[in-house]
Amino acid sequence: MTSRPTPVVIDCDTGVDDALALLFAVRHPGLDLRAVGCIAGNTDVDQVVRNTLTVLEQAGAPAVPVARGAERPLLEPLRTAHHVHGRDGMGDLGLPAPARRPTEVDAVMLMHHAILDSPRPVTLIPTAPLTNIALLLRTHPEVTRNIERIVFMGGAVATGNATPVAEFNVWHDPEAAAILLTAGVPTTMYGLDVFQRVLVPEADVRRLRECGEPGARLAGRLLSHRDPATGNDVPYGGLGDAGAVCSVADPAGLTTHRLPVEVDLAPGPARGQTVVDRRPRPGEAELHGETREQPLVDVALDIDVERYVKLFLAIVEGLDPPWT
Ligand code: BDR
Ligand code: CA
Repeated sequence: MTSRPTPVVIDCDTGVDDALALLFAVRHPGLDLRAVGCIAGNTDVDQVVRNTLTVLEQAGAPAVPVARGAERPLLEPLRTAHHVHGRDGMGDLGLPAPARRPTEVDAVMLMHHAILDSPRPVTLIPTAPLTNIALLLRTHPEVTRNIERIVFMGGAVATGNATPVAEFNVWHDPEAAAILLTAGVPTTMYGLDVFQRVLVPEADVRRLRECGEPGARLAGRLLSHRDPATGNDVPYGGLGDAGAVCSVADPAGLTTHRLPVEVDLAPGPARGQTVVDRRPRPGEAELHGETREQPLVDVALDIDVERYVKLFLAIVEGLDPPWT
């Protein structure tokens, strides 16, 4: 790899698949992980900090600064996803407590410094509810001058998971998501439509589990995690949030369309929905003068599953990226 690594900052709620995202980010030679913010989501924020430090330690990662962020959304109460991610929020693998410690400063301050201190514009990758990101954008709007792009895991064009129409990260803190989308920063929405498609085949998961190297073995154990709420017939091996990081390392595998996107903030059944306007031409509402200003977002509509599975496996197993 000859080009300089892309500086990235991840904000996560580790989380089985956030853990996969971190493992991939610290091992990919084309990514320079400069800081990690932690936010309540899959579990409470203190457990997220512990899980994040544990993953980095088990992966033998360099000393990446990790900071504690918001302990609940801006307006909503905290609604964790233990039923999906286990009691410890990371698959209950019985991993040892980390020796690493979080930074003294909070996640907003850490991300502020990490972004402005970076010699080159940073790609910000939130894989969690967007509370920390909203607080960062409102407290330190000047960070936008050194953000290349925000690639966030969240939202859905078609079907939700937290509700029939809302995806968990956006549903958890819809106001925060709206702040991100209207920040005027180039943004990619890596939503459920692509997120749910990237599955590592069982044989590869088995091979990782049997690996002697701790980071690769951890990836295998995480990929073996099954959502306890679903039956054994539901496939496991989802890359989840790690797919969003793959798309930063290798954008050629993701097909996006620039489309107007708005978060539904009204109370009721659509709260937290990302309303994506895919109409080919203006509709009756516009013809009757009902125009609204909506941010344009690069929405992920298709993904090269095989490409990202191959990339993920190569990186966590310590090989060179298959495409440079
Ligand atoms: C999102 O929610 C979390 O459970 C996952 O880590 C992912 O970020 C999917 O809706
Ligand atoms: Ca997550």
